[in-house]
Amino acid sequence: MAAYRVAFIGTGKKKPQPDLNGYFMAYHHAPAYKRLPDCEVVACADIVREHATAFAAEFAVPRVYTDYRQMLECEKPDIVSICTWPHLHAQMTLDCIAAGVPAIHCEKPMALTFGECRAMLAAAAAAPGSKLTFNHQRRFGAPFRKARELLTSGAIGTLQRLESAAGDLYDGGCHWVDLLNYLNGETAAEWVIGQIDGRERRTAFGAPSEWQGVCHVRYRNGVTAIIFTGGNCRDFGPPFRLVGSEGLIEIAWDPTPGPMLRYLRWGQDWTAVDCAGENLHGPGYIERAIADIVDCLKTGRTSELCVQNEMKAMEIVFGCYESSRRRGRVDLPMDISDSPILAMIASGELR
Ligand SMILES: NC(=O)c1ccc[n+]([C@@H]2O[C@H](COP(=O)([O-])OP(=O)(O)OC[C@H]3O[C@@H](n4cnc5c(N)ncnc54)[C@H](O)[C@@H]3O)[C@@H](O)[C@H]2O)c1
Repeated sequence: MAAYRVAFIGTGKKKPQPDLNGYFMAYHHAPAYKRLPDCEVVACADIVREHATAFAAEFAVPRVYTDYRQMLECEKPDIVSICTWPHLHAQMTLDCIAAGVPAIHCEKPMALTFGECRAMLAAAAAAPGSKLTFNHQRRFGAPFRKARELLTSGAIGTLQRLESAAGDLYDGGCHWVDLLNYLNGETAAEWVIGQIDGRERRTAFGAPSEWQGVCHVRYRNGVTAIIFTGGNCRDFGPPFRLVGSEGLIEIAWDPTPGPMLRYLRWGQDWTAVDCAGENLHGPGYIERAIADIVDCLKTGRTSELCVQNEMKAMEIVFGCYESSRRRGRVDLPMDISDSPILAMIASGELR
């Protein structure tokens, strides 16, 4: 018998093409556990039985549930992957912590409201026996790992500014914000000032986000970040540009035509950095993320995907939305409980 019994909450339904109404992320987590000799996927739960049974058939999962709480009680899993939509993450995470699950790996974004994020952080802090992590798998990609190595080796001097472009801030953009935080050494933000526009509806996995926006962040180490969001985000240039006292690092949208990662020192030409075919999305990133959380369970180490790091990203995301609502700078930490974007949609302030 393997050391760790893994269970899934939310299996999704496999379809020819993933989209913003169903990416069946459980089908991406499952192979990552299957390849680890320490792990055995013992059960899955989905409110739609056919989803769970199809998943169980694909990955040889012995037991299927439609009630995840019953699964937690009967299976007593060591690891739970939560692969449901954001509005369900908080309650499911809190239930896993209450059930004493040692490792809970939840999909991003953390939750629908900032109050839920705070509750998840507090519950995890009060239960050191439960390690709560979030699936920001891109951190394990060569373009980002190597960019951080360049930064720490002083290749561009001292980091001064991070520039980024994303489709939105909450859904895909929360990965981007998490990556900016990673590149800036996991430093927390000091303040955020931002503005968002909602002239057309944008929804991903049941959660609305802005149509277009701009977010300016100052970190506690003096580094600043500027993030442009919207469907036209490629117009702003590369998704990541790191400005240092002695040069620049750029991470590209695609590996073609140019390199995924390159840097220059002032007055010199660009140097391309080989990323071995890895791009913004993979391959192999989810496998590495899940191997990391399993290793952390084994060794007691804290994963860089930990809830504390996720909270630093959500402070920026919700901080920008709150800044738009207040029409002013938001100093962090902030004590709001709702979702400013949901509130502005409800009040009609955000069209
Ligand atoms: N890390 C990434 O790169 C990445 C990429 C895409 C999506 N995501 C995130 O993954 C998460 C899951 O999205 P998805 O598109 O994979 O989901 P999905 O729609 O494919 O699957 C979600 C499943 O949850 C089930 N479900 C709903 N309520 C439930 C309940 N109460 N109990 C048990 N199951 C329930 C649904 O029936 C469905 O099968 C989202 O938060 C999304 O933002 C992450």
